[in-house]
Amino acid sequence: MHEIIALRDVAPNVHELVVDAPDVAAKAQPGQFAVVIPDKMGERIPMSLAGWDREAGTVSIYFLEAGVSTMKLAQRTAGDHIDFMAPLGTPATVKEYGTVFIGGGCYGVGAIYPIVEAMKQAGNQVITAIEARSDFLLYNEEHLQENSDMFHRATSDGSAGSRGKVKDVLHSLIEQGESIDCCYFMGCTFMMMVSSRAAAEYDIPSFVYLNPLMVDATGMCGVCRVTVGGETKFACVDGPEFPGGEVDWGELFHRKSQYEPYEREAYRHTCRLRGDHHD
Ligand code: FES
Repeated sequence: MHEIIALRDVAPNVHELVVDAPDVAAKAQPGQFAVVIPDKMGERIPMSLAGWDREAGTVSIYFLEAGVSTMKLAQRTAGDHIDFMAPLGTPATVKEYGTVFIGGGCYGVGAIYPIVEAMKQAGNQVITAIEARSDFLLYNEEHLQENSDMFHRATSDGSAGSRGKVKDVLHSLIEQGESIDCCYFMGCTFMMMVSSRAAAEYDIPSFVYLNPLMVDATGMCGVCRVTVGGETKFACVDGPEFPGGEVDWGELFHRKSQYEPYEREAYRHTCRLRGDHHD
């Protein structure tokens, strides 16, 4: 069991979890993930590692409260103990490309930080772009800005940065003559799909992180099965990093939608037990 050092809100429905985990902090690499179990009866929740302090022995994660298990995790407090298994998954491909574009949305606004930092240290020019519906949903900007040569914000309502999404920032930079050698995208599956398709339009290779597909991250439930480059892969065992241009996104969305009614029902049921109202 690992002690929670801090659990705070960073944006509506987005939380930062910091746990005491010296063994994990010593070995963690960009792109890897953890499995968190919020309580004794809780499910395993796979989540991207968003940072670590090797000296202090702490590891941080950003998560979106999007279902029953993440709701339970958000209710824990500093001093509580949780199961926290990490680092898991293959590390991100980090090398010197020249100019890299790194896009984050949702939990990925926080979780792209280790990749941004590693790409900068590898000698790349780093362009970072984050997206949200509105300015009050953006967070972690200072950290990202410090390690980026260029930093862009995109909001759907135009309240901060440019109006649009990460993919629109990418389009506009390329149209302005910026030369980009590789892209990395982390966020919801839709964001990763449209962003990697935008990169492919210009023949730019991209990497995506398919953590949102995972359920138990054991390699046994099969829920994270995905076709990449015509081959069957499992996000939790073979990933989470995959070349975005080779993912069969159509199949991925079809499989993902099969579980949504069950998760919605479980969430409603738990909220009713708590006395909340979600119709
Ligand atoms: Fe169950 Fe990957 S999440 S096999």
